[in-house]
Amino acid sequence: MVTSFATGNPGRMKTEIYLRVDGVGHAVAVDARSTVLDVLRERLGVTSVKKGCDHGQCGSCTVLTNGRRTLSCLSLAIAQDGAEITTAAGLGSGGRTHPVQQAFLEHDAFQCGYCTPGQVCSAVGVIDELARGWPSAAAADVAADPEPSAAEVAERMSGNLCRCGAYAHIVPAVLQAATDRAPMDGAGR
Ligand code: FES
Ligand code: FES
Repeated sequence: MVTSFATGNPGRMKTEIYLRVDGVGHAVAVDARSTVLDVLRERLGVTSVKKGCDHGQCGSCTVLTNGRRTLSCLSLAIAQDGAEITTAAGLGSGGRTHPVQQAFLEHDAFQCGYCTPGQVCSAVGVIDELARGWPSAAAADVAADPEPSAAEVAERMSGNLCRCGAYAHIVPAVLQAATDRAPMDGAGR
C-alpha cells in the first residue's frame, strides 16, 4: 500500500491499493474515504455490483470478499488492500453459470433484476455459512439439523431486500441450491 499527496494539496491524499476482482488484478489509487462499491463501479467499471441505499440497508451491493459476503457500500477500499473480490459477474466457471445463478433462473427468482446480483452473492455466502455450521436466529445448531428450512433461508437472506417482492421465488431458489450442495458439504458440518 503506497500513500501519496497530490502536489500542493494535502487534502487530496491517495493510497494505492491492489484488488483482485472477478479474477482480474487491479492497482488503483483511492481516496481514503472511498468505499469498495464506489471503487468497483466508478473506478474499475465493474457495474454488476449495484448501489441501492448506499447505507448498508438493502443488500444490493453485496459481494464476496475473500469468500465472505460483504456489503461493499460499508467497506472502505483501503481496508481491503490485497483482497479477492467476487461479484455476481465473476461467479461460475468455464462458461457455465454458478449453481446459485442456475437455481435463480429455474425458479424465476427475479423481476426487474436490480437486487439479483446482491441476492446471488449473498446466497453463495449463506450456503458457505451453512456448510461451516454457522448458527442463525432461526437455527442455533446447524450441525444437529443440517437440512436448511425455508424459514432459515429467509432469515439468513433477510439483509437483501427486493423491491419487486420476488421473495416467494428467491427463497426456494436458495433453498434448492443449498440442498443440492448439502451432500457435498455434509461431512464437514
Ligand atoms: S447499497 Fe449497500 S446495503 Fe444498500
Ligand atoms: S427483482 Fe426487482 S428489486 Fe428484486
